[in-house]
Amino acid sequence: MKKSVHFTTVLMTLIGLVIAQPGLSQDKTVNDGVFTAAQVASGQTVYDAQCKTCHNMRFYRDTLRSWSNQPLLYLWENIMGTMPADNPGSLMFEEYTDVIAYILSENGFPAGDATLDPDNGMDAIKILAP
Ligand code: HEC
Repeated sequence: MKKSVHFTTVLMTLIGLVIAQPGLSQDKTVNDGVFTAAQVASGQTVYDAQCKTCHNMRFYRDTLRSWSNQPLLYLWENIMGTMPADNPGSLMFEEYTDVIAYILSENGFPAGDATLDPDNGMDAIKILAP
């Protein structure tokens, strides 16, 4: 039940994004430099404080593998809706975004010039298995 409510929320958000952005850019992957080094640095601070106690990097590697080929925005939504497990939704949007940049970086994906932004094209970035 809880899960289906969450998926409805995701769906509504995605429909909203599609309506808001008619000109979707062509598909990218997490290998295309879709986050900045600055996001990785602040993501590490958030990660150490909020995520490290319950998961190790191995866990995120497996997560990326199981989410491969899905839009990065879905993972962002999922993490925002459910994590940290003891206080879901407690971080700022930007903190969730930076944590994802850090996790991607730790799993070997490169930083680049583009700033990762859930309101701008993150639905067109595909997750790859590390
Ligand atoms: C209090 C413990 C706790 C904290 C803190 C925590 N998590 Fe989790 N997390 C869990 C549990 C429990 C699950 C679900 C069971 C599992 O898959 O191991 C989970 C699952 C996940 C998943 C898998 C989602 C999926 O459906 O594949 C991701 C990704 C994740 N957490 C990321 C994070 C991030 C990022 C943070 C920091 C913002 C965080 N977690 C903080 C306990 C925690």
